[in-house]
Amino acid sequence: MRELRKHFGPLKAAIYYLILNFDRGVSRNELKVESLAVSEEMRGQGIGTELLKRVEQFATESGYSLLSLDVVDTNVAAQKLCEKLGFEVVRTTRFGILTRSAEFTSSYYMQKRMR
Ligand SMILES: CC(C)(COP(=O)(O)OP(=O)(O)OC[C@H]1O[C@@H](n2cnc3c(N)ncnc32)[C@H](O)[C@@H]1OP(=O)(O)O)[C@@H](O)C(=O)NCCC(=O)NCCS
Repeated sequence: MRELRKHFGPLKAAIYYLILNFDRGVSRNELKVESLAVSEEMRGQGIGTELLKRVEQFATESGYSLLSLDVVDTNVAAQKLCEKLGFEVVRTTRFGILTRSAEFTSSYYMQKRMR
């Protein structure tokens, strides 16, 4: 929310926040990552990969069989990171013009099934 406010001001930020956090519910066997971020100056060094691997390890040890997250269509870095770790897009939600000024128009719901 803080980041959104920096870029879009309070009203638009609140709208985007609600859209991005619209809760579709999670199943009992699912662990959903709500936010994942690495400071700008530390990116590209494998920290994001390590964070997601640790979450996956925690999920497995805790008995979850599904790991999930949402990524907006323009966030190529996050999509690549997730694909590299075995996540697949299972649903696309289109927001159309609602979110265009925030530089995304869709969100991908990505899942990884754990053995
Ligand atoms: C997405 C994010 C967490 C990645 O963290 P990171 O520590 O930079 O990630 P890594 O260094 O582990 O990179 C892992 C993979 O991501 C992909 N990637 C990372 N940065 C990328 C970029 N700028 N462009 C394209 N792919 C990129 C690559 O596939 C990379 O694997 P590779 O190094 O083998 O090519 C980070 O960019 C971030 O905090 N972004 C802002 C917040 C955000 O978008 N969160 C995700 C919401 S789901």
